[in-house]
Amino acid sequence: MMHGALEDITKAVGHTPIIKLRKIGADCPAEIYVKCEFLNPGGSHKDRLAANLLNRAEEGGLKPGGTIVEATSGNTGASLALLAAIRGYKCIFVMPDKMSQEKIAHLRAFGAKVVVCPTAVEPDDPRSYYSVSKRLATETENVFFANQYHNPANPEAHYTSSAPEIWEQTRGEFDAFVAGMGTGGTISGCGKYFKERKPEMQIVGVDPVGSLYYDFVKSGRITKPFSYKVEGIGEDFFPTTMNLKILDDIVRVDDKECFLTTRDLTRLEGLFVGGSGGAAVAGAVKYARASGKKQRILVFLCDAGHKYMSKIFNDEWMRENGFLDDAPGIGTVSDILTAKGSRNLVTVPSDSSVRTAIDTLKTHGISQVPVVDSGTLRGIVAEIHLLRHLITGVKTLDSPVGDLVVSDYATVTPNTKIELLQSVLAETKVAMVEDKGQLIGIVTKIDLIDFLAQRSGPLSVAG
Ligand SMILES: Cc1ncc(COP(=O)(O)O)c(C=O)c1O
Repeated sequence: MMHGALEDITKAVGHTPIIKLRKIGADCPAEIYVKCEFLNPGGSHKDRLAANLLNRAEEGGLKPGGTIVEATSGNTGASLALLAAIRGYKCIFVMPDKMSQEKIAHLRAFGAKVVVCPTAVEPDDPRSYYSVSKRLATETENVFFANQYHNPANPEAHYTSSAPEIWEQTRGEFDAFVAGMGTGGTISGCGKYFKERKPEMQIVGVDPVGSLYYDFVKSGRITKPFSYKVEGIGEDFFPTTMNLKILDDIVRVDDKECFLTTRDLTRLEGLFVGGSGGAAVAGAVKYARASGKKQRILVFLCDAGHKYMSKIFNDEWMRENGFLDDAPGIGTVSDILTAKGSRNLVTVPSDSSVRTAIDTLKTHGISQVPVVDSGTLRGIVAEIHLLRHLITGVKTLDSPVGDLVVSDYATVTPNTKIELLQSVLAETKVAMVEDKGQLIGIVTKIDLIDFLAQRSGPLSVAG
């Protein structure tokens, strides 16, 4: 072997640099640093995971020549395809259709077979990418189903690779670790390692609007997930690789924040990252501002910008989706709240009685009311739920309403586009509007209709 050469490309995984941000978040008392996992040879942090998954499978008897099957948003596939090229496996990858064309082309460039499935179906629907990958895994001979959502070798890869590397690089001299959460492998594995060595370290997850994680961590409730554009983070189910208990805090970001921060990372800091990198940094800046402390924050940046040229780095796509300010579209949820104006947000605390809740519904002529304690949303109660409980006799008029709340709603932010709200309200009756963890409004189908009708002038009746 020539001096200085590596045996093959897989030996180049890891040893990624940590860089201090110079401009983004410069107004915060905190210093923000980023771990550049997008510089891995397969293009993301998933290189560490793929190696660990395949090593474990080979220890369990998997032999080269077999087929690797996986459900992937693209990056795990890319990392497995790279390993497969070196170790002699075939690959079949199943992807949701929202993923960028570049990711599909990348996998096909490595000779992988790619099956594309609809994003907008439930995870247990037979057409979902989770279900299709499971089915292909049972129908294929000599197969290895990588199963990153439920394989303990996923968080283990970060516990044994990413985290010790970060610890060695920094000597543990940081106060908070911020990462986006998809399978949760990164945050669960790294979080465990850091907490074992420094229990006061803050582990902060970043979650896109539309995903389940945020509401569940904040209120213990499973609200209605809906689709969003940022790739690789957020979920509509709970993977067993995600240890939500490791989190000290969770921050929510919307698509526009993710993509504008992704562009800033490239243009202001020279860091050519993908959308989840923008999400993680946008989340870190929010966390830094909210805590207002002098501290060191380390942010995990997963993949590179090349795979998003047709999206985040394409003005036309950004404009079409309303992510550029020169294309305001129909407006945002904030415009609906402004239009509703004087109709203040009506809420009840969880210790108020069913009787009080019914009075509130009657007085304000509304059909559901949010149950809120000190600004924090606990859930909603609607006429129909109260009625059901009274008829069955399970609860009385004096029962506390907190026992009857349901999570039959979606949560959006003031920046959520009306175009997206329309599809959210097609799935659920009501959307809660939250800003900085506080409930600031509620939007129903009729509010949206009112807003759109006012916008297009007074309704005229023909005849
Ligand atoms: C671009 C990108 N960012 C973030 C993540 C989330 O990482 P993890 O699955 O370890 O939570 C993924 C995972 O698919 C990803 O592809």
